[in-house]
Amino acid sequence: MSKVTFQMTPGGTLSGALRVPGDKSISHRAVMFGALAQGITEVEGFLTGEDCLCTMQAFRAMGVDIEQTAPTQLRIKGVGLQGLRKPQAVLDLGNSGTSMRLMAGLLAGQAFSCTLTGDASLSRRPMKRVIEPLTRMGASIESDGGRAPLVIHPVTQLQAIRYESPVASAQIKSCVLLAGLYAQGRTEVFEPEASRDHTERMLRAFGVEVAAHAGYAAIDGGQSLHATRVQVPADISSAAFFLVGAAIAPGSDVVLRDVGINPTRTGIIEVLRQMGADIQIENERMFGGEPVADLHVRGGELHGIEIGRDLVAASIDEFPAIFIAAACAEGETVVTGAEELRVKESDRIQTMCDGLNALGIDAIALPDGMRVQGGTLKGGTIDSHGDHRIAMSFAVAALRAAAPITILDCANVNTSFPGFASLARDAGLRIEVAGAE
Ligand code: S3P
Repeated sequence: MSKVTFQMTPGGTLSGALRVPGDKSISHRAVMFGALAQGITEVEGFLTGEDCLCTMQAFRAMGVDIEQTAPTQLRIKGVGLQGLRKPQAVLDLGNSGTSMRLMAGLLAGQAFSCTLTGDASLSRRPMKRVIEPLTRMGASIESDGGRAPLVIHPVTQLQAIRYESPVASAQIKSCVLLAGLYAQGRTEVFEPEASRDHTERMLRAFGVEVAAHAGYAAIDGGQSLHATRVQVPADISSAAFFLVGAAIAPGSDVVLRDVGINPTRTGIIEVLRQMGADIQIENERMFGGEPVADLHVRGGELHGIEIGRDLVAASIDEFPAIFIAAACAEGETVVTGAEELRVKESDRIQTMCDGLNALGIDAIALPDGMRVQGGTLKGGTIDSHGDHRIAMSFAVAALRAAAPITILDCANVNTSFPGFASLARDAGLRIEVAGAE
């Protein structure tokens, strides 16, 4: 277990203009599509978090020349759809579900075999959800009872499928679409709710024809990708900690710059506004195919609400932070339709519920969500279970706590948000990091 601990001193407010790091989902896709394209792709605003670095290393191991030309800038020499080389070793994807599921799709139709592994958390997460549709396309994948490691064997030709996904998941959808690039015919994916559509938008930017509307995406096999320039927005999932932190701490006033506001991701803004938060969307513009804006949030009082399935997909990664907002709100908040939270980097329903209970909050875990009674946060010790978003959520909770909070096992904050502690400290969070190397 990692020894990195956040020591939080209670109180304070957040203020200033901040730029959180690049979007994780978009950074992964920029590397993958840049690698498979013909020509040189330039990426700006790339997230150098460990998850995206795992994706980058994996493509380097398959013969792709990726140069880091500046701290957050990449120059990728694409090798074309058929240009990847067999890696000499297993591809270790660390903590990153996006890397494993999307790469399973794009590697399923290669002429070489490879093995995908990950850390303890990733090795517990369900992979049947991608193995099953890929197998229907003709892929040959061995797993450990539906979990990593995944051994992908070469096949001669994948066939297109029409896939009705039982869950709204951009990772499943993207996995099947990427395999679809290598398949004969038209691959179609249907989802119960619309998941994030970065794959569809970025494939189009790379010159691929994609048919898509909410809950549906389709692609014809055999299309090539053409290099382009990718400008990565700031990650709304990282901005979320500051949105919630500022919203729960009266007197706070924060502007978050260049944040991606793709409508499949903005559930957090909708949820916080329904709870009474003051959030203004300013300076809207486009970064390539993705909308961005500056988000201006001011602190105040929140009230509890009901959050149902319709808002879940668009805020799936923000629930740890939303549960903190709920704990600081007046009255009860009930979240349902969010059973997917149980299979994230940790079981985010149980981990958050245990943490809130440890701080004296009346919270009850439901099979698909949580019931949280707003109250006063005491101090205490939280086990983040190595889940980056749990660690950062309890860090901002300290703004409203009555006593110090210690958060254990925080090293994985670097998977999505390198520099979190110093950016948050500059904004007013009273955070000390112990045990960092
Ligand atoms: C992601 C999709 C979501 C999200 C994850 C990133 C992506 O996962 O939770 O952090 O980049 O496609 P699911 O597809 O499992 O919902």
